[in-house]
Amino acid sequence: MSLKIASLAIAMSLMSISTMAHQVKEEPAQSYRQSYFALIGANFGAIVQMVKGEVSYDNQAVIERANNLVALASIDVTKAFPEGSEQGTTRAKPEIWQNRDDFASKFEAMGSAVNKLAEAQGVRADVAKAVGSVGQSCKGCHDDYKAKDYLY
Ligand code: HEC
Repeated sequence: MSLKIASLAIAMSLMSISTMAHQVKEEPAQSYRQSYFALIGANFGAIVQMVKGEVSYDNQAVIERANNLVALASIDVTKAFPEGSEQGTTRAKPEIWQNRDDFASKFEAMGSAVNKLAEAQGVRADVAKAVGSVGQSCKGCHDDYKAKDYLY
């Protein structure tokens, strides 16, 4: 096997490991939106840790994470809640399907909040304020539409 083919094979086997962890063939919408929110959570969590001083504050890292959140917010995750996907391995509450407009407006509120976070340009005092608003936007949706435990 040439080196090129060997490294391609390794890359492909790594890909299948990482997709196996989160992608469930039978529940593509649930897997998609949970992967989406895992990325949201990881990027936001990294900023929160820096603001709290749990890890050292890195201006550039905050800018990068905030830009990631803006990019993620441009993906309309509300489309990943089709009819029927209230079943299965999910924490999405059935109320989502009865209040689509309100659910969408809560998603838009998150978009506005992460835009402000990115506009803070990593300046710590401004980032700290913006982080609070982003956190409120997550909570604003989770309080109504995300269950604490998986619903089966
Ligand atoms: C418009 C509503 C909404 C907003 C806004 C929202 N979430 Fe969620 N989030 C959900 C729902 C619904 C689920 C459950 C999805 C499921 O289990 O199918 C979820 C799940 C999650 C999860 C668990 C993902 C997993 O691995 O299963 C994390 C982490 C998360 N959200 C973080 C955040 C953070 C951080 C924010 C704010 C930056 C945020 N969410 C904003 C609705 C929202």
